[in-house]
Amino acid sequence: MEVTIGALRIGVLASGRGSNFQSIIDAVSEGKLSAEIAVLITDNPAAFAIERARKHNIEHLVVSPKEFSSADAMYTKIADELKSRNAGLVVLAGFMRIVGKPLISAFPNRIMNIHPALLPSFPGLHGQKQAIDYGVKISGCTVHFVDEGMDTGPIIIQAAVPVYHDDTEEALSERILKLEHKIYPEAIRLFSEGKLQVDGRIVRITG
Ligand code: GAR
Repeated sequence: MEVTIGALRIGVLASGRGSNFQSIIDAVSEGKLSAEIAVLITDNPAAFAIERARKHNIEHLVVSPKEFSSADAMYTKIADELKSRNAGLVVLAGFMRIVGKPLISAFPNRIMNIHPALLPSFPGLHGQKQAIDYGVKISGCTVHFVDEGMDTGPIIIQAAVPVYHDDTEEALSERILKLEHKIYPEAIRLFSEGKLQVDGRIVRITG
């Protein structure tokens, strides 16, 4: 992986499969994203994301919630690990927990999340199933900055897919995931180039 001096350093948090993490690794390797992935932090020692980190010589840390007396203590530790590696951006890539205040206040408007629905519709778990059950005809994915709410922060990019009347959760999830892998590296690229301006709820893409 090419490392550019002074490039944005990214800390990734993931809990599972890590296909979004992989899309970011690939964007960096292919030169589409001028950034360095400084560390992967996971709350799950069995996360496949760890294999991806190993394969690409990215440092990984397991931070187990059960080792901490409170969620705040865990997020303080995560924030400290990220700060000590000079992370300029924190990327949640299938991190299945609500991020605690100590991390949010350490990285204001510098934490991104990807969600598999068109927010503000269908926040929380199983966004794809929620969309099917509701009967919407269009769903998609959203990259947003993280605030203290559940999937409520300022929206950076969204992409849409059709929802068919006989869709399954698996089929819709796959259709959405293809777009996740496009828009997440793109949102990070815009951030790395200083092209995202946050004004209250509105994210302006400049330049
Ligand atoms: C992705 O679909 C992501 O949008 C979703 O989990 C999946 C993780 O896949 N995130 C959430 O639902 C967060 N609320 P991945 O581990 O292969 O990137």
